[in-house]
Amino acid sequence: MSKALYTGSFDPITNGHLDIIRRASHMFDELVVGVIVNPRKNCLFTKEERAEMIREITSDLPNVTVDCFQGLLADYANENKFDAVIRGLRATSDFEYEIQMAQMNAHLFRDGTDSVFLMTSPEYSFISSTMIKEVVSLGGDVTGLVPECILKRMIERYKMLNGGTK
Ligand code: COA
Repeated sequence: MSKALYTGSFDPITNGHLDIIRRASHMFDELVVGVIVNPRKNCLFTKEERAEMIREITSDLPNVTVDCFQGLLADYANENKFDAVIRGLRATSDFEYEIQMAQMNAHLFRDGTDSVFLMTSPEYSFISSTMIKEVVSLGGDVTGLVPECILKRMIERYKMLNGGTK
């Protein structure tokens, strides 16, 4: 049984992340989406909300489960014995950070865990959760870039925080 981990802040999950999840779920017997608490990020949604949204949009993928963790990715991967940690590469600008992270993780991984990179599909290579949040908070159109149910949750959250989107 092959087992992979795909981690991120997912604040919120976008169609770019979902594309990586779908493709990775076909490559491994089991895929865990790990929602991380990144102390450097001020998130719009709690980790529980982010996990719940991912569960909702991956409910058609029976080998995908969602978990939350904090601390070192390598510790979580070692404790749960993953064969692979998946990362999506959007552009060459991602490469330098990713190679550093992969090499540090290689130093920390036990039991043969390795980093596996999937190229983000071109239609999603320009998006990030931050950019999606900025556009939605200012009333812009992100059709096709985030699942409908996630967009609805974002609009509701901004209404609650700001008293309405433009
Ligand atoms: N499609 C669309 N957007 C994508 C994407 C894709 N395929 N892949 C990445 N992104 C976006 C993300 O939404 C994120 O946007 P944001 O910065 O606006 O939130 C951005 O690209 C960066 O993504 P990522 O590098 O995955 O950042 P992250 O905060 O989501 O996750 C961790 C980073 C969790 C992987 C990393 O911080 C980590 O491992 N932390 C644990 C601590 C640790 O082990 N540190 C030592 C590492 S060696």
